[in-house]
Amino acid sequence: MNVIKVKDYDEMSEKATEFMVDRINSLKNPVLGLATGSTPEGLYQRIIEKHQQDEVSFKNVTTFNLDEYVGLEQNDPNSYYNFMNEKLFSQVDIAADRVHIPNGVAADLEKECMEHERAIEQAGGIDVQVLGIGGNGHIGFNEPGTSFDSKTHIVDLDESTIQANARFFHSIEEVPTQAISMGIETIMNSKEILLLVSGETKADATAKLLHGDISEDFPASILKKHENVTVIVDEAALEWCRG
Ligand code: F6R
Repeated sequence: MNVIKVKDYDEMSEKATEFMVDRINSLKNPVLGLATGSTPEGLYQRIIEKHQQDEVSFKNVTTFNLDEYVGLEQNDPNSYYNFMNEKLFSQVDIAADRVHIPNGVAADLEKECMEHERAIEQAGGIDVQVLGIGGNGHIGFNEPGTSFDSKTHIVDLDESTIQANARFFHSIEEVPTQAISMGIETIMNSKEILLLVSGETKADATAKLLHGDISEDFPASILKKHENVTVIVDEAALEWCRG
């Protein structure tokens, strides 16, 4: 893993933007894997600015999101579909039919998972996958214990993930308990991976990622086996690694 240390969230977002704009501009038909959550928001905001300055276009870009909550309609304020639309897609020139986000209210959820896999394959695989990391080491919504061989699947969210995501909902009871998530193997099949890590709530996970063993108990640890991973991590997340 190529680890780039930065001062703070803003610098992480700046560096991530440079990285993604470079990839989008150098690939003929870029296929991007995208994450939601607080971590990539600064990246998406800056990409929109670059688009407004004519420095990047999404005309030839195809995207696949990592995950979606089960049970939330696309227009639900907390759906990842809504997040992506608001934070990125509605503000760049991407074609609607090139955007792929699992449908969390599909009548047949298993079929929806297979369809996400099939569409990724049909697009020629993911060129660059953007990831955040959960405090428990999850990537996508692959919680500790998920098989490294997993493809897109339905997951039961960890109690710690439900607690962490409750900040976006009115009450913890409203947080969905299941999600559709790309599997670990799906993520590992990406040609390149960009992992963004910021803040002291990720310090423990950062220490485990950089210094721990590869184990299904800590899903992100598998990234050490991928040959093209860049981690952009800020000082707050690295705090515990110094000791
Ligand atoms: C989001 C996702 C999750 C998040 C992780 C960190 O699509 O797949 O793995 O990246 O939960 O979330 P934040 O960035 O909110 O700390």
